[in-house]
Amino acid sequence: MPITLKTPEEIERLRVAGRLAGEVLDYVAPFVQPGVTTAELDRLCHDYMVNVQGCIPAPLNYAPPGYPPYPKSICASVNHQVCHGVPNDRPLKKGDIVNLDITTIKDGWHGDTSRMFVVGDASILARRLCQVTLECLWLGIGQVRPGARLGDIGAAIQRHAEKNGFSVVREFCGHGIGQHFHEEPQVLHYGKPGTGIALEAGMTFTIEPMINAGKAAISELPDGWTIVTRDRSLSAQWEHTIAVTETGCEVLTLSAGAPPRPDPGG
Ligand code: MF3
Ligand code: CO
Ligand code: CO
Repeated sequence: MPITLKTPEEIERLRVAGRLAGEVLDYVAPFVQPGVTTAELDRLCHDYMVNVQGCIPAPLNYAPPGYPPYPKSICASVNHQVCHGVPNDRPLKKGDIVNLDITTIKDGWHGDTSRMFVVGDASILARRLCQVTLECLWLGIGQVRPGARLGDIGAAIQRHAEKNGFSVVREFCGHGIGQHFHEEPQVLHYGKPGTGIALEAGMTFTIEPMINAGKAAISELPDGWTIVTRDRSLSAQWEHTIAVTETGCEVLTLSAGAPPRPDPGG
């Protein structure tokens, strides 16, 4: 499928879905405490999306080719889990880091965003990994404007991650988004400046770097979804949905509780 450029009216619909996705994270944040299970967080988010926001949780029963239907409404990836962690009945404990990834569908349009949460107080390494990954996301966002290339985004992210001694997961990437959850283009989180397609106003896509404290290699668990680091090192991820505008870009998944653009962050 080719890249679809969205009209201002369509971007307004994505803005609504995106803000709602961010607000799910704002809502669930106070519940991320030692002792809570990711299944409980899934239920809280599911009920909020369905009963309060009037949204459909996009992950529930999502089944791209080669995957079993995803069984839950959010992804919750703990410690060495990289992404697509399936919520379960294990309680979170002090020192865990967890990514909660929310994708809403509102009136047929998608909003996709994720944040890291630190449970109690975590190690200096865990906190630095979460912070550097947030900086990577915003350095990627800082590259987005008409005429920039996709490779500029990946290069900015890779450079900052590796400068800090971390590695970039290669197998999963950001993606175009709209009336489909995953559209063209693929937005790699590594690459070379000046390579790849040129960005144009009206493109909408996610940037969602997955950064490992150890090596970049990953494995998939037998559930067919959960991705872990092969060396069991910690992994972090942050995600926003972005629209390319005439002058730069707009982050569509900001909400009151979203952490602001960090420094350094483009
Ligand atoms: N939200 C993820 C992303 O950022 C995709 C999750 S697919 C699911 O692209 F089925 F696991 F939910
Ligand atoms: Co995404
Ligand atoms: Co996501």
